[in-house]
Amino acid sequence: MANSSINIRQSNYLGTLRADNWWLYPAFVVFGFTSFVIYATWAAFQGDNYYFDGGLMSEHFGGYLSPMYSPLVWVKSGVHGGAPLHHAWLGEMPAWMPAFVTPAFFIVGFPLAFRFTCYYYRKAYYRAFAGAPPACAVGAVPQKEYKGETGLLIFQNLHRYALYFAILVLFILAYDAFMSFFRDGQLGVGVGSIVLLVNPILLGAYTFGCHSFRHLVGGKMDCMSCSKGRLFAWKNVTKLNMNHELWAWCSLVWVGFTDVYIRLTAMGVIHDFHTWAN
Ligand code: FES
Repeated sequence: MANSSINIRQSNYLGTLRADNWWLYPAFVVFGFTSFVIYATWAAFQGDNYYFDGGLMSEHFGGYLSPMYSPLVWVKSGVHGGAPLHHAWLGEMPAWMPAFVTPAFFIVGFPLAFRFTCYYYRKAYYRAFAGAPPACAVGAVPQKEYKGETGLLIFQNLHRYALYFAILVLFILAYDAFMSFFRDGQLGVGVGSIVLLVNPILLGAYTFGCHSFRHLVGGKMDCMSCSKGRLFAWKNVTKLNMNHELWAWCSLVWVGFTDVYIRLTAMGVIHDFHTWAN
């Protein structure tokens, strides 16, 4: 019987016996990641139109805040679509800060570190951007030897620590969603409230389905049935974990969409339908 197996590592780059459109998925990943990174970078440098409360700039609580600018450490006064000063933890941006620095700069590192080191995203971008290999049973970019995540890539172990910050930010974004149901201290609802509410739900499904979180709640236990609470948590985290890829993409797209919605509303390009008087 003829031996039809091939050694992928020794085959040509992109060489394969696969007859399906295997390249569609890595092409989608390249398109999706590149689009998001370009938009997020652009949005972070704008420094304006990240907040909307009907133009009131109210002293009372409420308003829509873009997740790309939350939590607000410092704000710049007098910026169109910028948040009121009292929304920032530390108030006005210090004068010594370079002009190009926006409030988004102080928080972008946390979600970036969490997503970049995510087990799913690693698989996706190693395949799509590094071709290592581009897909199952497809020839990889030639390497002298397979080293795995050693050497420079050892930093990927930061993921378990990035998780703690991601959970913290998730609660802050949930608070922002709660605040979006108020304007000038008045309870109400707008389309933006719904958009902001969906954001922490999707992010929660992504964050609480994290492989590191699954290990944290029960994966490291020798006796799973010894703690009913932890077993229950582990089972539910496992359900989220099974669709981790789906939640990763949905939450990423929704963060971008939420920023776009608030930006266009603050710019006056679209009207936010709501129940408030203003
Ligand atoms: S493994 Fe994806 S968020 Fe932790």
